[in-house]
Amino acid sequence: MYSSSSLLIALLAATTTALPAPQNNLNASLANPNYGPVPGESRTYVDYSKTAAPFPGNITGAILPTETGLAGPDDLLFQNLLSAEWAIFDFYQQGVEAFNVSSFTELGLPNTTYDRVMQIRDNEAGHLRIFQDSISNTSVKPGACTYDYGFNGNASVWLALQVSLEVISMAFLTGLVREATNLDTMSALVAIGEVESRHNTWALIDVWNQNPFSGPSDTVFPYANEILDLTRQYIVPGSCPAANPTYPLPRQNLPATTAVIEKAKGLVEFEFTDPHNQPDWYSEQRDRQYYAVYFHGVHNITKPFDTKTNTSAYPAEFDAGEGLLIAVIANEIDAPTLDSVIAGPALIIEQPIF
Ligand SMILES: *[C@@H]1O[C@H](CO)[C@@H](O)[C@H](O)[C@H]1NC(C)=O
Ligand SMILES: *[C@@H]1O[C@H](CO)[C@@H](O)[C@H](O)[C@H]1NC(C)=O
Ligand SMILES: *[C@@H]1O[C@H](CO)[C@@H](O)[C@H](O)[C@H]1NC(C)=O
Ligand SMILES: *[C@@H]1O[C@H](CO)[C@@H](O)[C@H](O)[C@H]1NC(C)=O
Ligand SMILES: *[C@@H]1O[C@H](CO)[C@@H](O)[C@H](O)[C@H]1NC(C)=O
Ligand SMILES: *[C@@H]1O[C@H](CO)[C@@H](O)[C@H](O)[C@H]1NC(C)=O
Ligand SMILES: *[C@@H]1O[C@H](CO)[C@@H](O)[C@H](O)[C@H]1NC(C)=O
Ligand SMILES: *[C@@H]1O[C@H](CO)[C@@H](O)[C@H](O)[C@H]1NC(C)=O
Repeated sequence: MYSSSSLLIALLAATTTALPAPQNNLNASLANPNYGPVPGESRTYVDYSKTAAPFPGNITGAILPTETGLAGPDDLLFQNLLSAEWAIFDFYQQGVEAFNVSSFTELGLPNTTYDRVMQIRDNEAGHLRIFQDSISNTSVKPGACTYDYGFNGNASVWLALQVSLEVISMAFLTGLVREATNLDTMSALVAIGEVESRHNTWALIDVWNQNPFSGPSDTVFPYANEILDLTRQYIVPGSCPAANPTYPLPRQNLPATTAVIEKAKGLVEFEFTDPHNQPDWYSEQRDRQYYAVYFHGVHNITKPFDTKTNTSAYPAEFDAGEGLLIAVIANEIDAPTLDSVIAGPALIIEQPIF
């Protein structure tokens, strides 16, 4: 004879069979850090050489918490990082699917190029797993959205995006270290940043045939979520799993800018590219002074920003042609706080010269 509770279970089971097949976003196996290949121990993240996405990139959807309670101390950081990583992994997966060896040899590139792209894709799958495993089981582990990189099967355009994404990754990892509470997290972020730097170095040597070195220090920019926000441009609106948290969190939603160096004029010209999100120079007070603050290496340099022309002087003090400059418009010299940044950041990539 059925007890009332087993009857309830039977009814629930009957209801469940009437629903669509269980979704990956409820995949309990994936929530378990012991499930699947282990980064640092498995060839999957090194040289899995198939076109189909490697684990865990082949199992998408947000992983929901199995328990409630206090979130792990760095869960928010790793949620942001995992959301960014899905975009980067998918970029490489799209490249692996769109191209083959001849796509790159036809451009005069080494016959190892496609293999390297696959290997980087495999490393990025390992990052997905490391970040999933770093989020405690009391917090959502964000899943993949749909991403549009607009390269339309063009390998040259894809390669330019590749090196740019690696530079962006290095920049936000350097900043995210400041959000970590845990020493293991800090070290892991440096170790992952080193891998992105290897990917970037490979591209500078083998693809761009340029100097792979960027001077004594890559660029430190403290406001990592502002860099993460730049990757939102690749997300197809409305395509993220419903359970994903806002990305990045917290999000300032600053007016986007691009910065173009006019060397001959000694100027940097800023353009505010989103017509729906423009800066309001008069929101605080008329004729307030704004600043273009440039970050490069471990330093920053401030130049007055002219709101009539949207220009500032070029920061000639920096070692021109090396690495990356990050520029923001701020209402204070040195952009000393997050809230002092009112537009940007703009990335000025100096290596490679496209
Ligand atoms: C989770 O996904 C893996 C791989 O697709 C599958 O083998 C496993 O049965 C799934 N587990 C659950 C609980 O759905
Ligand atoms: C996911 O990829 C791994 C290899 O990385 C493979 O072993 C596994 O079967 C795949 N799972 C699914 C559900 O495709
Ligand atoms: C690469 O793909 C192109 C177009 O699909 C095809 O013509 C070519 O034979 C492929 N090359 C290799 C090495 O698979
Ligand atoms: C790749 O190129 C090298 C020379 O750069 C050549 O020795 C090698 O045979 C090539 N490999 C393939 C598979 O084409
Ligand atoms: C959740 O994590 C805690 C702490 O790491 C662990 O003790 C617990 O067994 C985990 N629960 C599940 C369902 O994995
Ligand atoms: C790919 O894009 C580059 C740069 O925009 C362009 O010069 C080239 O013609 C494109 N290639 C193809 C096959 O369309
Ligand atoms: C400067 O930027 C603002 C905001 O986008 C725009 O309205 C203005 O036309 C720009 N001025 C110049 C000279 O380009
Ligand atoms: C910019 O550099 C100054 C020192 O020159 C420093 O006090 C300030 O905190 C730096 N700004 C940021 C946002 O790191």
